Amino acid sequence: MIREMRAAIFDLDGVIVDTAKYHYLAWKRLAHENGFDFTEADNERLKGVSRVRSLEILLEIGGLTVEDAAKEKMAAQKNGWYVDYIQNMDVSEILPGATNYLESLRSKGIKTALGSASKNAPLILKRLGIAGLFDTVVDGNKVHLAKPDPEVFLRAASELNIPPVRCVVFEDAEAGVEAAHRAGMGVVGIGKPAALKEADMVIDGLYQLEVVAGG
Ligand code: BG6
Ligand code: MG
Repeated sequence: MIREMRAAIFDLDGVIVDTAKYHYLAWKRLAHENGFDFTEADNERLKGVSRVRSLEILLEIGGLTVEDAAKEKMAAQKNGWYVDYIQNMDVSEILPGATNYLESLRSKGIKTALGSASKNAPLILKRLGIAGLFDTVVDGNKVHLAKPDPEVFLRAASELNIPPVRCVVFEDAEAGVEAAHRAGMGVVGIGKPAALKEADMVIDGLYQLEVVAGG
């Protein structure tokens, strides 16, 4: 259920920026190098999930068991490719409506936060020059427990000093929707309703939203 919103907490990949496709390409490349395929449907399970957990799911899909040292190497290899892919990103990869919606919320006095699992979040915000749109940034470098654990969103609410019940999360991943609900927050799903059944409402993108002045 979504109540009066005093803070909006945004996932990064797939909500603010179109990076989900680069995560997918890098995981697919790792799968191919290890002799198996990785489909877009498989990829839904990795969205919102930490790098380490994503690798475990990928290996499970490929039916591979590997030692910890090899896992570390694979995760580093995937991240190297991912960072290469995002090197040339520019503002055209900010998703439609994201900047406008954030600016509009802020102009109405609603706090904004980033709540992302990604350790690359600072690099992406800097490259696109959008760090200033958020009152606080909570990313994979700050939290210990990955979504669907609610830690990332609870920490954002606490840094903003807004009760969780007055926060709304914007998420494109099933794991993130669950994390938001476990934090006691309302959640707007971004993407296809079939993939985000538990969200309070689902829209195609932030371009569909308008900020309504509230009391
Ligand atoms: C999430 C993405 O935002 O961040 C996941 O949806 C990704 O696909 C996770 O695995 C961790 O990102 P990174 O950049 O730290 O590997
Ligand atoms: Mg996401």
